Amino acid sequence: MSIGRDIQGGIYRAGLFGDRPVVPTSYDGLEAAARKAMSPQAWAYVHGGAGLQSTVRANREALDRVRLVPRHLRDVEDRDLSVEVLGRRWPSPLAFAPIGVLEMAHPDAEYAVARAARRLGMPMVISTQGSVPMEETARALGDTPRLHQLYWSRDETVVRSFVERAEAIGCDAVMVTLDTHLLGWRTRDLDLGYLPFARAEGIAQYTSDAAFRALLPGRPRGETPRPSPRQLPAALRALASIRRHWPERVGLSDPRPRAAVETFLDVFSRSDLTWSDLARLREMTRLPILVKGVQHADDARLAVEHGVDGIVVSNHGGRQVDGAIGSLDALPGVVAAAGGTPVLFDSGIRGGADVVKALALGARAVLVGRPWVYGLALAGEDGVHAVMSHLLADLDLTLGLVGARRLADLGPDLIAR
Ligand code: FNR
Repeated sequence: MSIGRDIQGGIYRAGLFGDRPVVPTSYDGLEAAARKAMSPQAWAYVHGGAGLQSTVRANREALDRVRLVPRHLRDVEDRDLSVEVLGRRWPSPLAFAPIGVLEMAHPDAEYAVARAARRLGMPMVISTQGSVPMEETARALGDTPRLHQLYWSRDETVVRSFVERAEAIGCDAVMVTLDTHLLGWRTRDLDLGYLPFARAEGIAQYTSDAAFRALLPGRPRGETPRPSPRQLPAALRALASIRRHWPERVGLSDPRPRAAVETFLDVFSRSDLTWSDLARLREMTRLPILVKGVQHADDARLAVEHGVDGIVVSNHGGRQVDGAIGSLDALPGVVAAAGGTPVLFDSGIRGGADVVKALALGARAVLVGRPWVYGLALAGEDGVHAVMSHLLADLDLTLGLVGARRLADLGPDLIAR
């Protein structure tokens, strides 16, 4: 039995009757199809990186530079893709990276992703910038493992409330993102004048949060001006977005949507945190704490010294620091510095071989970002499911073809230097 052969065989058999895969299996094909399906704003936001896009390129270059050296005659008939992460067995080393503002790719947003994750039993990291309150995402996940990604708000009552909600919905960990206390210089979005949050997109965790809503009375400061004819389409779009998850009915003259957007922009993040602040988070929750965005070995050491339970090597898919190191180039140093603390990896994973490379260089598991967002844009839940199934199949086949039976068999000896 092999999941790779099953999925591959299923596609070839369907092809006999003229059927094609739900979404392209080639990454270039997937990207091109998604680009056609998405609005210019959604495409810019999802596909784009920071500045000259050089970190997006560096992520791929780092993965492409590392080459695998296959081994043979090792009996790899029965392969096991499962891995233990934070005391739980995941069926494979693949998980859904936290991605905000999914409503821009598809109106089903997290509902579609959570249903696909459930069909695959694949863990989902739920974003703070979600388009759907985390409780609803959790319901759609059933008992699929979930983690909570946290942006550390300027308002500590909101942080506490998010963490409590994450505990209540059965998250296995809190994953604090360190690399986005400021938004990177994202030229694609800037050129379109497009920030989703300003349109009330991707702020559902906040508008559904009691602590956040307690900040709203008295805001927005000053009168809510009636939108001018020029502003009306944008105002109506924002209203439509906020109506999807606002508990009561709101109208165009209701000041609360604007209050929510402005308050969100005020409290979204803070740049004054230091390593010692992690102790406060530790005191807020019994859940394991992971830090996401680590690139420097010294930061890995500091993370371990400050008691984190896991490290995610990531540069946010090249969306934050332009000119940064490719994420895979950062991985071996971080793994060495982390001692036994588990290290997860993301940024640039597009195929099964990428996963094998990251695992061979010491990652325990990987988070996948943009590819499934493109699947979501193309075909909702089925598109997400197809993209992750294809990656899983590719991973399983590549594992067998390099001569490994279990993920633990992957090591630096498979890598050409
Ligand atoms: C992200 N990422 C992200 N990370 C995070 O911690 N919280 C978030 O809300 C988001 N939102 C988000 C939106 C979009 C559109 C993208 C593309 C990315 C970063 C994400 O978790 C992950 O680090 C990268 O996507 C990994 O890189 P690849 O696989 O997309 O190249």
